[in-house]
Amino acid sequence: MESLEIITKIKVYSIESCTGEKKKLIEKARQATQSAYAPYSNYSVGAAVLLKNGEIITGSNQENAAYPSGLCAERTALFYANAQYPDVAVSMVAIAAFNKGNFTPDVCSPCGSCRQVFVEVENRFDTPVTILMCSKDKVYEVSSIKEILPLSFSKQSML
Ligand code: THU
Repeated sequence: MESLEIITKIKVYSIESCTGEKKKLIEKARQATQSAYAPYSNYSVGAAVLLKNGEIITGSNQENAAYPSGLCAERTALFYANAQYPDVAVSMVAIAAFNKGNFTPDVCSPCGSCRQVFVEVENRFDTPVTILMCSKDKVYEVSSIKEILPLSFSKQSML
């Protein structure tokens, strides 16, 4: 029997050490947590999307009494970015979460549905998206969603 080994590369560093556009994007994601509508989970997520044209679009989770009708911060931001700038690739996304009065002790990593949307965004523009998953003091960075969604399903799968 054959087996495949899948290796994920994640850079880990402190938020404090961030400079330039990463620092700015993380700050925007943190600010965006404040616009979350999360009365059911009390877990407020912010996402900041940096486009290739330099624009930054932010989004936050928007919950609903009918739970599945809500939407995560990442998809709120990515869909809005793609709707406003349908021809502009996404280059980087920062994600942060806030609950119990502070940014979270664990990094906020995208849920399965959001990962699938990241795959579509990367494939659509043929451009990998750097993802910065933040906690109160740390960043996990991947250079593509494919690092954390290996064997993903895409239009290639249907050829
Ligand atoms: N959530 C996000 O917005 N992004 C994530 O990466 C993880 C989860 C939201 C969905 C829901 O509103 C709340 O966080 C708790 O799951």
